[in-house]
Amino acid sequence: MISKCLFPAAGYGTRFLPATKSMPKEMLPILTKPLIQYGVEEAMEAGCEVMSIITGRGKRAITDYFDISYELEHEIKGSPKEELLEGIREIIETCTFTYTRQNEMKGLGDAIYKGKVLVGERDPFAVILADDLCFNPKGEGVLKQMVKLYEKYRCCIVAIMEVPEEEVHKYGIIEGNVIEDGVYIISNMVEKPDVKSAPSNLAVIGRYILTPEIFKMIETTKPGKNGELQITDALCEQAKKGIVIGYKFKGKRFDCGSVDGFVEATNYFYAKDQKH
Ligand code: UTP
Repeated sequence: MISKCLFPAAGYGTRFLPATKSMPKEMLPILTKPLIQYGVEEAMEAGCEVMSIITGRGKRAITDYFDISYELEHEIKGSPKEELLEGIREIIETCTFTYTRQNEMKGLGDAIYKGKVLVGERDPFAVILADDLCFNPKGEGVLKQMVKLYEKYRCCIVAIMEVPEEEVHKYGIIEGNVIEDGVYIISNMVEKPDVKSAPSNLAVIGRYILTPEIFKMIETTKPGKNGELQITDALCEQAKKGIVIGYKFKGKRFDCGSVDGFVEATNYFYAKDQKH
């Protein structure tokens, strides 16, 4: 039912400078796969077929990655190396990729709004921030869990997790009431609050299911924290006018937008690989 997934990938990735000076953050690899491929695989598992990517200047490597590389494929044809390309080849054959650019980095809310031309205004869609790498070693991926929840509640859903108090200032934080195990009806959301004004320690991470009404909410949202158009503020409006759900997902999440989280993910997937 949710066939499109939006990947806002226009940010500068300044925490990874100088590497991100000429390379998109989303192309940084965890072992041999770029971050964005993990996200696309999670979206495919959840049933999405159209991957809509919001790019910006200096992000051409992403577009090239999800395309055939004739020269390289010809070069390694018939050699054992050919199998290294099997995964990405299947993705290219199975999915449709659409792109648009965010010309100015005006925030995640603005990046998602730019995606309107790609995902349309009729159907709900998923959003994955590829620098949040999610993995559930015990079963279904995070987006698939959220799609199932959408089938039940049919409203906007954000993935949430508990974070230590000293980290609430890095996230959008929710306030809400539990309606079933791990599921909250959100009454308020605050972007990057200081610890004293944080309504809880439940932080929004980079997985969303949004209904098209969100575009209207973004249109009336004013720039917020850091002068950026925050999706948290638009979702907070939506929560006040309708229903937004917070879902405490099952699985792990690595903040690969930070060096610490990136190293942690690398170590985790390396150790997991060694066991097989
Ligand atoms: P971040 O703030 O984590 O990404 O945005 P960043 O700005 O690239 O990283 P730093 O802080 O400078 O190191 C979260 C996600 O939202 C996207 C980013 O690409 C990232 O996936 N984003 C953010 C946009 O696409 N456009 C924006 O204007 C802002």
